Amino acid sequence: RSRDDIGGNAGVAWEGVRAEAMACTRCPLYRDGTQTVFGEGPLDAPLMFVGEQPGDQEDLAGRPFIGPAGQLFDRALGEAGIDRSAAYVTNAVKHFKFERRGKRRIHAKPDGGEIDACRWWLDQERSLLRPQITVALGATAARSLFGRVVTISSMRGQAQQARDGGETWVTVHPSFLLRVRDNKEEEYARFVEDLVQIGKRLE
Ligand code: URA
Repeated sequence: RSRDDIGGNAGVAWEGVRAEAMACTRCPLYRDGTQTVFGEGPLDAPLMFVGEQPGDQEDLAGRPFIGPAGQLFDRALGEAGIDRSAAYVTNAVKHFKFERRGKRRIHAKPDGGEIDACRWWLDQERSLLRPQITVALGATAARSLFGRVVTISSMRGQAQQARDGGETWVTVHPSFLLRVRDNKEEEYARFVEDLVQIGKRLE
């Protein structure tokens, strides 16, 4: 079902929160980014994916995970039998943080202050959606959801509990899979396996 099908209070509240987030000045990142990139997907989705922050293409388009990492993510979801349109996809940090190198904008990692400031919006998305399962894609998402620094390796492969109590799984970020040189295919296969395991929890 789409957001329009649900309509009603949840849809109205979500639209209101999104509109507020578009004007966010809670941290300095709004100054350089093109726009706030809010989450998207059905409000009754049982599954919420949380990434790090929008990249260059997401910043321009205003939609999460549509660039190279998003394409790899879509492929992995497809292989795991999960329909992206049935999931709500968002980011821990909703503005693109970057450094300029000539004409290029190079991704810069959000710091703890930026993650904490932006958690305000993730918390609102979470309390509106209350997804059955949340997936942290990478360490920034995990830090936001657990409220502390965690390692992927210590949390991967089993259900965890987020700060707000929701069942949460931790896996790597798709851009790690684009970057990694050693055992690239194995790492990708392991990511798909994580998604398969998560998908089974929904059945
Ligand atoms: N990487 C992310 O973490 N999120 C996006 O939306 C795109 C790339």
